[in-house]
Amino acid sequence: MYPLRRNRILRTNPSIRKMVRETVLQPADFLVPLFVVEGHNVKEEIKSMPNYYRLSLDLLQKEVKELWEMGLCAVLLFVKIPDNLKDNTGAEALNPHGLMQRAIKSVKEACPDMLVMTDVALDPYSTFGHDGIVAKGQILNDATNEVLAQMSITHAQAGADFVAPSDMMDGRIRIIREALEDEELTSTGIMSYAAKYASGFYGPFRDALESAPVASKEAPPDKQTYQMDPGNRLEAIKEAEMDIEEGADIIMVKPGLCYLDIVRDLREVVEVPLAVYQVSGEYAMLKAAAEKGWLDHDTVMMEQLISIKRAGANIIASYFAKEAVRLLT
Ligand code: PBG
Repeated sequence: MYPLRRNRILRTNPSIRKMVRETVLQPADFLVPLFVVEGHNVKEEIKSMPNYYRLSLDLLQKEVKELWEMGLCAVLLFVKIPDNLKDNTGAEALNPHGLMQRAIKSVKEACPDMLVMTDVALDPYSTFGHDGIVAKGQILNDATNEVLAQMSITHAQAGADFVAPSDMMDGRIRIIREALEDEELTSTGIMSYAAKYASGFYGPFRDALESAPVASKEAPPDKQTYQMDPGNRLEAIKEAEMDIEEGADIIMVKPGLCYLDIVRDLREVVEVPLAVYQVSGEYAMLKAAAEKGWLDHDTVMMEQLISIKRAGANIIASYFAKEAVRLLT
């Protein structure tokens, strides 16, 4: 008996494999997360994220120029705020001359066409390390939304192309959209973290910004009252549909690998671009295994990234962006 079909024919050599490959990565797929700190000529390695750094504004400018040369055209900015500027309501987040607002301007000055997206949430500014305002052991949803809206205005005024609310408060997309409209900031987009799960994979990121929830009698011990339960699937569809209705231009799923079923679910029901965030813990896991010689770094990195795109992502936020693009070209 002969095989009914010889499927291996399409795998015979690199040329045919390349020709029939259904999913290909390109530099423009990536969104590069960048961590910014005060100072001059500062490049600090993040302890749980080997080869990833916090940069001062001067080195941020150098970095974005390099990224642009490589074909990467979008960055996602995060700032590390000194403890003395933190409070419960995120007042520093509204400072028009704050680190984030200056970082946006620095990127645009160095590289005017680079798309700048900014994190909108209170955690880097919060003494409790929470994404919202804390009162009597709870997170205040609606009061937080007012701050997020004001924060978004300052980012848009500084030149951000997209604000990216990562806080998971209810109704924040609508409040942010209305606030932008009121200020006639009509070309600023919103990329909402629509399905953001309460994940153990954010640990290294919280090291990077020193933004982990602080143990306190006054505040919830973790983010489970606002980030989603990892067991839930239908809820992701509800969150995404509501964010789109409220005015989100792009929606995001986060983390990546453990949630690719959610990515596929959403890709089938929503009609806006879909972003996936391959988060800090996913980066750290591969770096650690590769350092031990247990996995081949580049092979696994590319396999993970292509899987994210195959699952349905149009945009991939990844700490591997630069390394991956080097291998693509
Ligand atoms: C904060 C925020 C987090 C991440 C992005 N924005 C952490 C958190 O929710 O605690 C995580 C990103 C990563 O782990 O790479 N609002």
